[in-house]
Amino acid sequence: MATLEIPYHCVSNRMLPHQRQFHRSQAAVNALVTGYGGGKTHAGVQQAIKLSIVNHGLPGMYVSPSYRIAKRTIVMTFMEILDSAGLRYKRDYFYNKNEHEFRIKPWNGTIWIGSGDDPDALRGPNLAWAGIDEPFIQDRGVYEQMLARVRHPQAPSGNCT
Ligand SMILES: Nc1ncnc2c1ncn2[C@@H]1O[C@H](COP(=O)(O)OP(=O)(O)O)[C@@H](O)[C@H]1O
Ligand SMILES: [Mg+2]
Repeated sequence: MATLEIPYHCVSNRMLPHQRQFHRSQAAVNALVTGYGGGKTHAGVQQAIKLSIVNHGLPGMYVSPSYRIAKRTIVMTFMEILDSAGLRYKRDYFYNKNEHEFRIKPWNGTIWIGSGDDPDALRGPNLAWAGIDEPFIQDRGVYEQMLARVRHPQAPSGNCT
């Protein structure tokens, strides 16, 4: 992989102990279970950003229960974390609302936002990685669809910690 000027440190500091444990997991599939406000969305979005760095140039997807919910949760959290990493909206990254797609210029990252209310609509091209926010209020088909789609032949093996 080419050396990239990436703000790794900015997307991995100030973690709570259980978030750190989640990020360090080497499992192919891992989950963070906490109560309301326990930092699941924050940790999941940080993990998604790190996976977009590791798999730069390849798409990944983060699924929310619906696009309406995504707008007020994960989309806002992606912007907060990217902003706090020193990236500037439009100059360094952009969110295409129609395509539900983040493009992050410094490392050529592509993150698609998925909506779990229609699992069949999640079918499509191969992904390098996938994440699900609030998986237990979503159809099991969302999880199955994501497992089936994380199969990009160019994705580096191993987890991001
Ligand atoms: N490591 C962290 N650093 C800074 N703020 C955090 C961190 N983890 C969580 N937060 C903040 O705590 C609040 C609750 O986190 P959130 O991820 O929404 O929880 P959950 O999804 O488990 O309900 C949010 O305002 C979020 O920005
Ligand atoms: Mg949440």
